[in-house]
Order: sequence, then C-alpha cells, then structure tokens
Amino acid sequence: MNQTSSVYDCTIIELDKHHHEKGNISVVENKRTIPFEVKRVYYLYDVPGGESRGGHAHKELSQLIIAASGSFTVTLDDGNVKRTFMLNRPYQGLYIVPGIWRTLDDFSSGSVCLVLASHKYDEKDYIREYDEFIKSKKNNEL
Ligand code: TYD
Repeated sequence: MNQTSSVYDCTIIELDKHHHEKGNISVVENKRTIPFEVKRVYYLYDVPGGESRGGHAHKELSQLIIAASGSFTVTLDDGNVKRTFMLNRPYQGLYIVPGIWRTLDDFSSGSVCLVLASHKYDEKDYIREYDEFIKSKKNNEL
C-alpha cells in the first residue's frame, strides 16, 4: 500500500530573518531552508475581498506559501483531517506536500501571496474535482 500524504506532513517553516533599522530581509535557499528545489515562483495579488483561491490538489508539486504582505488563511485537507493556517508574517512559510487539497481565503487588502514551487506549471498535475481527490486518497494513490 502506498503511503498517502497527510496534513500533518505540512508545516510552518521559520525563514531566516535579518533585522535592520532600514528594514528586514528574509531568505529562502533551495534544500537548506526547504526540502525541495524551487523551479518556479509566482504570486497572487489584487485578490478582491471575499474571494477564494486554490480549490485543488497537486499530484507531485511541493510548495512553500508566504504572506509576503498582509494576511490570508490557507485550509489544508487530506480527505480525512483539515487544518487551517493564518499566514501574516513574511518570515514564515507554509510548506505543503503533494496530495493535499488547499483553499486560500480571507485575503486582506493589498496582501501578496508568494508561492515557491518545486515544478514548472503543468495543468496535468492538478486535481480540480474534490470527488476525484477523495477517490484518489481512498485508493491510496495520492
Ligand atoms: P491556479 O493555480 O488554478 O490558481 P489559484 O490556485 O491561485 O486559484 O491558476 C490559475 C490560472 O493561472 C491557471 O488556470 C493557469 C494560470 N497559471 C499559469 O499559467 N502558471 C502558473 O504557474 C500558475 C500558478 C497559474
């Protein structure tokens, strides 16, 4: 039987934070800070109030999600357990393993959701139907 991923495999990672009176810097380095190599960076911004993003799972993709500015919530679901994280600190990232359904809500005005991803964009890596996600989890395929 395959080992399926769980929301407990997903964690908040504390990023390096360099304090300076002129402003702060946080750093992410491949493999040292996060357990994967970043192949793609994208960011969500100008998300209208009340809007929800995500609503899908990935088959292979690992991600680190950072509230680079402002705040939002990320709800993770492994088909069995749900966990919700409020992200509002630019020096913390939420590490999400493959096989987890995620939904992003409650974006504050002006918030920026920075995403570091382990693979290039590939629509075939997405599961966008919740029923299909649950079926794959039940069959230990994800
Ligand atoms: P999607 O990942 O579904 O958005 P979210 O999870 O933030 O709600 O992406 C929305 C669309 O953006 C997708 O259908 C195609 C495009 N897109 C790219 O072309 N490249 C990318 O790296 C990403 C993340 C999205």
